[in-house]
Amino acid sequence: MKTAIVYATKYGSTKKAAEIIAEKLSNCTLIDIHALPESFDEYDCVILGSYVHMGVLQRDIRAFALGQIRLLLQKKLAIFVCCAFPENAETYFNNNIPPQLLKHASACEALGGEIDRSRLKGMDRMVARMVLKADHAKGILRTFSLHDDKIEAFVDKLTDGAATV
Ligand SMILES: Cc1cc2nc3c(=O)[nH]c(=O)nc-3n(C[C@H](O)[C@H](O)[C@H](O)COP(=O)(O)O)c2cc1C
Repeated sequence: MKTAIVYATKYGSTKKAAEIIAEKLSNCTLIDIHALPESFDEYDCVILGSYVHMGVLQRDIRAFALGQIRLLLQKKLAIFVCCAFPENAETYFNNNIPPQLLKHASACEALGGEIDRSRLKGMDRMVARMVLKADHAKGILRTFSLHDDKIEAFVDKLTDGAATV
């Protein structure tokens, strides 16, 4: 099975998650959403991966999902997001991905995420502070990271638990 992981990253953690997934699958190509190939004919499986900002998946990933519904319904499909609050995953998926694709996907998972506040640019710094403050106000203090167990579960769902590389 040949797999394409189409991902959008801003600060690198979604790309990192895509690389970890690619390592676990055989015959997998990483595709930046900004460098799409002309055709997906050679791929049997497409994985979409995006970060979440203010509850919204990256714009071009949303546009790709919406514009390529017919193509994606013909492929094995899985979708992941990188985000600070994986407990909101269902809302993020439902609000950003067409329902036909969610129904068709073998796996939809939030894999956790990373935030390095010192690297945030411009408005992102302010927005992130606001988003994280809401969490802090609920008395929750947490560190943000990618969740190995969720990545493992995501890959397992996609491969039906069959041996990968
Ligand atoms: C400006 C900004 C807004 C964010 N908004 C959300 C959000 O609404 N929900 C959430 O769960 N995580 C949110 N996050 C966390 C990111 O989704 C997380 O850091 C993700 O791993 C970033 O992926 P990237 O490194 O590929 O850009 C936000 C982060 C930033 C910087």
